[in-house]
Amino acid sequence: MDHLVLGIESSCDETCASVVKNGRVIVSAALASSAEIHRKYGGVVPEIASREHLYSIIPVIREAIEKADVKAEELEAVGVTAGPGLIGSLLVGVSAAKMLAAVLHKPLIPVHHLAAHIAANYLAYSDLEPPFLALVVSGAHSHLVLAETYTDFRILGRTRDDAPGEAYDKIAREIGLGYPGGPLLDRLAAEGDATRLQLPHTRFANSLDFSFSGLKTAVLNEVNKAEMMAGKSRWKREEILSDRDIAASFQEAVCSVLTEHAAEALTVTGLNKLVLAGGVSANSGLRRKMAALAVEKKIEVYAPPLSLCTDNAAMVASQTYYEWLGGSRADMSLNARSLWELGERANGK
Ligand code: KG4
Ligand code: ZN
Repeated sequence: MDHLVLGIESSCDETCASVVKNGRVIVSAALASSAEIHRKYGGVVPEIASREHLYSIIPVIREAIEKADVKAEELEAVGVTAGPGLIGSLLVGVSAAKMLAAVLHKPLIPVHHLAAHIAANYLAYSDLEPPFLALVVSGAHSHLVLAETYTDFRILGRTRDDAPGEAYDKIAREIGLGYPGGPLLDRLAAEGDATRLQLPHTRFANSLDFSFSGLKTAVLNEVNKAEMMAGKSRWKREEILSDRDIAASFQEAVCSVLTEHAAEALTVTGLNKLVLAGGVSANSGLRRKMAALAVEKKIEVYAPPLSLCTDNAAMVASQTYYEWLGGSRADMSLNARSLWELGERANGK
């Protein structure tokens, strides 16, 4: 028998809802994004994001159900990203999900945002099953995760400071590119010289943790140095140090660190499947390096299609299905959590 679930995502600047069948097939998806509004501020403005979610949430949910051509009563469960993320944004999705679950008398399922990013892969690879190693890299996170089952996770390594997406966005803003900077720098990197800047690859002894703030600062220092030289000469900064070379050098350093850590985690765990997830898993340099790692280590590497790398509700619906199967249920006391450790239960236990 087929099981349809609704997933709702509102943790950042995208208001999305989606109906997914049996955790694997997208039946419908609807989205309203406030990214255009944030673009002129160079980053997400939380107050604006939550207000935009309020305007969009009901129309987006209605659109997803209508497009799926099902009656709301036919849905098996209502899942929602309950954290981590921007608290005002999360609250809009969580409140809508509670209302819908109560009205329809359906189970309410809290979903962890990073578990949902991992689940994006289930929508693309029908035979993918845990256990596997997951590298979740996004605007706010950088985690190496052992996915033991669909709903049990163990964090093997995490960033101690910045996330890679955050570093991409900061560098892009500094050199005057738009927002979000990740895709723009990724495109520029293809034309640049990756050996132009010598950048640090931070490692910690006996740890799979990451650190990207030293790398980010090193890039920003190089940009400042080139700007100062330009100020004292008739050259432009771009002629001394080009955007392309900045992008290529930075991308090479970030992707090398991510790939080296993933390789080590595969060795430690003995796993032969690596799953990429999160906004930065769209990165072409990262995908290329991971493809090479797959050949070298004779493992399988999975990455979501580009459309499912960044925030979407289909991935939330996929994870909702597995949480529902596993018996996870929340009651009307469910609250959004801006901080929520992957592997910890939604109610903090
Ligand atoms: O997963 P996501 O949509 O939101 C969070 O949960 O944080 O990730 C957004 C992040 C942004 O920082 C964006 O710059 C980055 O993913 N990103 C990329 C690429 N596409 C998106 N970073 C590097 N290369 C890309 N192609
Ligand atoms: Zn995300």
